[in-house]
Amino acid sequence: MSVERTFSIIKPDAVAAGQAGEILAMIQKAGFTIVGLRMTRLSAAEAQGFYAVHKERPFYSGLVKFMTEGPIIVMALEREDAVKGLREVMGATNPANAAEGTVRKRFAANIERNCIHGSDAPETAAVELAFFFRTSELL
Ligand code: RTP
Ligand code: MG
Repeated sequence: MSVERTFSIIKPDAVAAGQAGEILAMIQKAGFTIVGLRMTRLSAAEAQGFYAVHKERPFYSGLVKFMTEGPIIVMALEREDAVKGLREVMGATNPANAAEGTVRKRFAANIERNCIHGSDAPETAAVELAFFFRTSELL
């Protein structure tokens, strides 16, 4: 196993609810190093582009509306087996199915407003990291 990078977003629901600090603490306790972090707000075009893989899904327009409703925190995270490891910290997409102690179990309201995004594969992580960060700004 080698050190890997993944990409994460603290979504607008969690930022608005003041949960970003606790979510960051959970990520760091799981052994991740933060190598990039910024607060931003997505335009509709950016959210559509970021979630383009879901554009045929019935939830796409709601997802774009949700992801643009307020500030988000974008993060580049490093750890051994980072992609899989972050998905474990996040918990299942639907918080009703998320394991105890995961971010979504603790904080998410429902399957859409679910607090956190994490890349689903190393290839997606590379694309998503490049969407938000220049290589030179990652430490
Ligand atoms: P994410 O991409 O945000 O990390 O979430 P995920 O992999 O766990 O789930 P994914 O299937 O990629 O879905 C992306 C996001 O779309 C919203 N969603 N809503 N209403 C629905 O049925 C539904 N399904 C998905 C969620 O915000 C989900 O995280
Ligand atoms: Mg996904």
